[in-house]
This record gives sequence, structure tokens and C-alpha cells, in this order.
Amino acid sequence: MAGLTHPSLVVLSGAGLSAESGVATFRGSDGLWEGHRIEDVATPEAFKKQPEIVQRFYNLRRAGLKTVEPNAAHQALVKLEREWPGPFLHITQNVDDLNERAGATKLLHMHGELKKVRCVWCRSVLPWETDLETSTPCPECAKPGKLRPDIVWFGEMPYYIDEIMRALETVDVFLCIGTSGLVYPAAGFVRLAAEHRCARLIEVNLEATGISGQFTEQRLGPATVEVPRLVQDLLAAEF
Ligand code: APR
Repeated sequence: MAGLTHPSLVVLSGAGLSAESGVATFRGSDGLWEGHRIEDVATPEAFKKQPEIVQRFYNLRRAGLKTVEPNAAHQALVKLEREWPGPFLHITQNVDDLNERAGATKLLHMHGELKKVRCVWCRSVLPWETDLETSTPCPECAKPGKLRPDIVWFGEMPYYIDEIMRALETVDVFLCIGTSGLVYPAAGFVRLAAEHRCARLIEVNLEATGISGQFTEQRLGPATVEVPRLVQDLLAAEF
């Protein structure tokens, strides 16, 4: 990478980025998947069988966004987005809006967004702030009972895959922040970046993960401490 004036940087973030803001992660002792079975709330089959339970799960999480704020790690990533001299892309698996609220613009929500709903009838995608009921009519086509959270459930295709693959083909610095590396395709991005000769593969996490061995550097610790430090180092580095 020596001599590059405009190195390209890709960030992949997961639930650990928002954990210190008070948003629950998925796995681990207090994780969402400890209190709920994935197959009850996060699959298209669950939505077909028990839409009330699925809507309630996401209504609670959407309402919860009003009680949390972006943290120092979200803010540091926005500083990186604004000051990085080359191409920048932040891919998040998170469905919260904390990156946008910190000011992020070069951001892709590959697993959807809590504050959007989708009509399975007319396919409109709409911003949404309040609770969604199973009978709520679609504001576009007026059909009742066709709106669902715009969340990518297990068994569904993540969003923006073509754009993500293109970014990974030319990435020079890949950061992976606060993700357990258990859910594909996101967990495979580090390998793709390495195959495309990405020079620096950096993982930030509280602990080692099943994919830690694929990184060239590791920063162990809370995101609110490690991400601002890492951003400072990256912005000061000579490439
Ligand atoms: N700082 C850094 N890392 C943290 C912090 C923190 N403060 N808190 C937790 N972590 C790490 C954990 O060690 C763990 O590796 O964040 C990771 C969170 O893992 P998961 O709960 O599995 O969340 P994530 O990897 O984002 O899940 C991926 O799974 O269920 C699906 O669609 C859902 O997008 C989600 C996907």
C-alpha cells in the first residue's frame, strides 16, 4: 500500500458498535437471541404464521431508538468518513439509525432499517416512526395487512450486495467493528477483501471471534475507546 494517495477504506459494523449506546446485541448473555427464538420473530415464515408477535418485536425495538443516542464510536466513524482522503464506505448490519444521527452519509444498511417499512403488495418502501399493526393500511396502495418491517430476515437476501462486492474488490483498508462474525454473507467479507489483496484488515471487538485469525491487526476493547483511537491512527498514517 506504500505510496497510495487515495487508499480505499471499507467499514463493516455490527451490534457491538451500538452496544454502548444501550442497543441490545443479538448473541451473548443479554442478547436479543437469548430472549427470543430467531424462528419466532426473524423469518418470513414467522411473519406469515404470527404477524402480531413479529410486529410487536420490531415495534418495541423501533420505539427503543427514541431512548438511545450515538456514541463516540459512531462519531469517530463520521470523522473518518469526512476526512479520509480516498473512497469510503460504511456497511452496517445494524438496523438502528445511530450512524445517520451521528452524521454518516456513505452508509449502506445491508440488513434493513427499523425506521422503514415495506409493502409486500405494492413493494413501496416508506419511512416509518411509529408502531405498525397487522391491519395498518399501506399509505401508497391502501391495502391493509401488507406492511412489514424493512428488515432482512434469516433466509432473505441482504441488500446492496452488488455495491458491497464492488467495494471489496478495490479495498485497501478493511475495518470490522463489533460483529461476532457468525452471520453470512457479512462474516465472509474479510476473506473477500483479503483475496483482493487488501493490505490492512483490522478487527475491533471486546473479544476474539471465530474470524479473528483472518485479520492482520486486532484491537481488543470497547468500541467507544478503540474506534476513536483507531480513527486517529488511520488519519495520521502515511500510505
Ligand atoms: N465494543 C466492541 N465490541 C462489542 C461491544 C463493544 N462495546 N459489545 C459487544 N461487542 C461485540 C461482541 O463481542 C460480539 O462479537 O459485538 C459482537 C456482537 O455480536 P452479535 O450480537 O452476534 O451481533 P452482529 O454480529 O451484529 O450480528 C449479525 O445477526 O441476528 C443477526 O441480523 C442480525 O445483523 C445481525 C447479525
